[in-house]
Amino acid sequence: MRIVFGLPSQEQIFATVAEGESLMRAAVEHDVPGIYGDCGGQCACATCHVYIDSDWIERVGTAEPGSTEESMLEGAPADVQPNSRLACQVILTPELDGLVVLVPEGQ
Ligand code: FES
Repeated sequence: MRIVFGLPSQEQIFATVAEGESLMRAAVEHDVPGIYGDCGGQCACATCHVYIDSDWIERVGTAEPGSTEESMLEGAPADVQPNSRLACQVILTPELDGLVVLVPEGQ
Protein backbone atom coordinates (compact mmCIF):
# COMPACT_ATOMS: atom_id res chain seq x y z
CA MET A 1 0.00 0.00 0.00
CA ARG A 2 1.03 3.58 -0.57
CA ILE A 3 1.23 6.59 1.71
CA VAL A 4 2.00 10.16 0.67
CA PHE A 5 3.91 12.41 3.09
CA GLY A 6 3.68 16.11 2.31
CA LEU A 7 6.57 18.17 3.65
CA PRO A 8 6.48 21.85 4.69
CA SER A 9 8.69 22.52 1.62
CA GLN A 10 5.77 21.27 -0.58
CA GLU A 11 7.91 18.27 -1.54
CA GLN A 12 6.19 14.88 -1.34
CA ILE A 13 7.53 11.50 -0.33
CA PHE A 14 5.71 8.45 -1.69
CA ALA A 15 6.14 5.46 0.58
CA THR A 16 5.28 1.85 -0.17
CA VAL A 17 4.51 0.22 3.16
CA ALA A 18 3.26 -3.05 4.58
CA GLU A 19 -0.26 -3.34 5.90
CA GLY A 20 -0.41 -3.45 9.70
CA GLU A 21 2.60 -1.18 10.12
CA SER A 22 2.26 2.10 12.03
CA LEU A 23 2.34 5.38 10.15
CA MET A 24 5.35 6.42 12.28
CA ARG A 25 7.37 3.32 11.27
CA ALA A 26 6.50 3.94 7.63
CA ALA A 27 7.76 7.52 7.93
CA VAL A 28 10.99 6.59 9.73
CA GLU A 29 11.74 3.79 7.25
CA HIS A 30 11.39 6.26 4.39
CA ASP A 31 13.48 8.98 6.09
CA VAL A 32 10.62 11.46 6.21
CA PRO A 33 12.19 14.61 7.73
CA GLY A 34 10.45 15.82 10.87
CA ILE A 35 9.12 12.42 11.95
CA TYR A 36 11.53 10.94 14.47
CA GLY A 37 9.62 8.44 16.60
CA ASP A 38 12.02 8.93 19.52
CA CYS A 39 10.05 6.76 21.96
CA GLY A 40 9.74 3.90 19.49
CA GLY A 41 5.97 4.21 19.21
CA GLN A 42 5.09 4.20 22.91
CA CYS A 43 2.97 7.36 22.66
CA ALA A 44 5.46 9.13 24.93
CA CYS A 45 7.39 11.69 22.87
CA ALA A 46 5.16 13.45 20.29
CA THR A 47 8.02 13.49 17.74
CA CYS A 48 5.71 11.74 15.28
CA HIS A 49 3.05 14.46 15.07
CA VAL A 50 1.34 14.68 11.66
CA TYR A 51 -1.70 16.36 10.17
CA ILE A 52 -4.05 13.99 8.40
CA ASP A 53 -5.26 15.36 5.05
CA SER A 54 -8.87 16.53 5.36
CA ASP A 55 -10.08 13.98 2.77
CA TRP A 56 -8.80 11.19 5.02
CA ILE A 57 -9.58 12.30 8.55
CA GLU A 58 -12.90 10.44 8.72
CA ARG A 59 -11.25 7.16 7.78
CA VAL A 60 -8.29 7.66 10.10
CA GLY A 61 -10.25 9.19 12.98
CA THR A 62 -9.11 11.75 15.53
CA ALA A 63 -7.30 11.24 18.84
CA GLU A 64 -9.73 10.06 21.49
CA PRO A 65 -10.60 12.79 23.98
CA GLY A 66 -8.82 12.20 27.28
CA SER A 67 -6.45 9.64 25.77
CA THR A 68 -2.67 9.54 26.26
CA GLU A 69 -2.35 10.51 22.61
CA GLU A 70 -4.43 13.65 23.13
CA SER A 71 -2.38 14.74 26.14
CA MET A 72 0.93 14.05 24.33
CA LEU A 73 -0.25 16.13 21.37
CA GLU A 74 -0.75 19.09 23.70
CA GLY A 75 3.02 19.08 24.30
CA ALA A 76 3.96 18.83 20.61
CA PRO A 77 6.11 21.74 19.38
CA ALA A 78 3.99 22.47 16.28
CA ASP A 79 0.42 23.80 16.40
CA VAL A 80 -2.12 21.15 17.28
CA GLN A 81 -5.07 21.12 14.89
CA PRO A 82 -8.28 19.08 14.84
CA ASN A 83 -6.65 16.73 12.30
CA SER A 84 -3.48 16.23 14.38
CA ARG A 85 -2.48 12.66 15.17
CA LEU A 86 0.54 10.91 16.55
CA ALA A 87 1.68 8.75 13.65
CA CYS A 88 2.66 5.89 15.96
CA GLN A 89 -0.99 5.52 16.96
CA VAL A 90 -2.23 5.15 13.37
CA ILE A 91 -2.08 1.58 12.10
CA LEU A 92 -2.13 1.22 8.35
CA THR A 93 -5.11 -0.88 7.40
CA PRO A 94 -6.11 -1.62 3.77
CA GLU A 95 -8.72 1.15 3.74
CA LEU A 96 -5.91 3.67 4.30
CA ASP A 97 -4.18 2.80 1.02
CA GLY A 98 -3.32 6.14 -0.63
CA LEU A 99 -3.43 8.08 2.67
CA VAL A 100 -2.08 11.63 2.53
CA VAL A 101 -0.51 13.20 5.64
CA LEU A 102 1.32 16.47 6.18
CA VAL A 103 4.40 16.94 8.33
CA PRO A 104 4.08 20.03 10.58
CA GLU A 105 6.52 22.86 10.08
CA GLY A 106 9.09 23.27 12.86
CA GLN A 107 8.95 19.78 14.23
FE1 FES B 1 6.76 8.73 20.36
FE2 FES B 1 4.79 8.54 18.57
S1 FES B 1 6.78 7.79 18.44
S2 FES B 1 4.74 9.47 20.52
